[in-house]
Amino acid sequence: MRRLALVARLALVSSLAAVVPASGAALPPVVNIGHRGASGYAPEHTLASYDLALQMGADYIEQDLQLTSDGVLVVLHDETLDRTARGEAENCTGLVSSKTLAQIKTCDVGSWFNDAHPDLARPDYVGQRIPTLEELFQRYGKRVNYYIETKSPETADHMEERLLALLDKYRLRTLSSRSWQVLIQSFSAPSLEKIHALDPSLPLIQLASFPPASPELEASLDTIATYAVGYGILPITIPAVVAAAHARCLVVHPWPIDPPSVMVSLIDAGADGMFTDVPDKLDAVLGKRAGRGRQVARRAALLHRQCLKAKAG
Ligand code: G3P
Ligand code: CA
Repeated sequence: MRRLALVARLALVSSLAAVVPASGAALPPVVNIGHRGASGYAPEHTLASYDLALQMGADYIEQDLQLTSDGVLVVLHDETLDRTARGEAENCTGLVSSKTLAQIKTCDVGSWFNDAHPDLARPDYVGQRIPTLEELFQRYGKRVNYYIETKSPETADHMEERLLALLDKYRLRTLSSRSWQVLIQSFSAPSLEKIHALDPSLPLIQLASFPPASPELEASLDTIATYAVGYGILPITIPAVVAAAHARCLVVHPWPIDPPSVMVSLIDAGADGMFTDVPDKLDAVLGKRAGRGRQVARRAALLHRQCLKAKAG
C-alpha cells in the first residue's frame, strides 16, 4: 500500500516535471545538498564521497569544520577521530583539536566504511584522508557550491575568521554573497551572528535540532531572519515551519532525508532543498525539476532578494 502511494506520488512529481521547462525554471528551485558528500555510498567527508555526490547530481557538497591544534580547518563531522579514523592511536584517536594537521593526515578515514558496509565496500576507500577545507577549494574551485558548517565554534579559535580568510583566498566570498555559491550553516547562533557582523552580505543558515514550540517559533524566526537567509531543521518540524519561515523570506532545508517518499512529501510541504546521503535518489525524485549546481544556487539567491524586496514593499 505504501509502495503504491509512493508510486502515485512519484508519478505526480513526474507529471509536474513534464509541464515545466527542462531547467525547472517555472518552479522555485529545490536544492540537492550532498550530506557529507554522498555518505550513503562512500565514507563521509572524503574526496571519494564528494566526487560521487557531484556525479550523482548534488547541487551543494556539505562540509563540517573542525580545527586542528596548529590552526588548520579540516573537514570531519565529529569532534573526535574515534568513529571514522584508523591508524596510530596517538594520531588517530581523541579530539581533533589536540592533533596537528600532520598527525591527522596519517589517519585513514575510509576503512571504517568498508567494515561497516561490506555491500558498499570499495578498495579505493582504504587510505582516504581527512581533507582540509583548503584542499577542497583547490580541488573543486568555483565549479561547485559549498555548504559549510561551523562545528563547535565556541571552542575553535577564530574559526569564523579563518573560514572567511579562505573564502577570500579562493575568491569565493563575493560569489557566496551574490549567488549563494557558499552557504554557511551552524547550530550556534553566536557563530552565525559573528559572521554576520563580519560580513552582513554572506548567506547563513541557522540549524535547529529540536521542534520549536509554536509560540516560540515566530519569535525565533524573527530573530533568525535578522542574520540568516534560511533555517535547517529536522523533517518532523516542516509543517509548522515552512509558512512561517517563508513569510520571513527564510528558505527551509531539512536533513538528512534519504527515503524518496519523505523527499516527495517534503517537497510537497514546500521545502526549498534538503540534505541527503543519497543525492542520486533526490535527483531522480526531482526529475526535470532538478537544476544543476551553480544555476540552482544563483536562482535561489535571486528569489531570496526578490522576496526581501517584495516584503520591504
Ligand atoms: O548540516 C545539517 C546537518 O548536517 C546537521 O547535522 O550532525 O549531520 O552535522 P550533522
Ligand atoms: Ca553538518
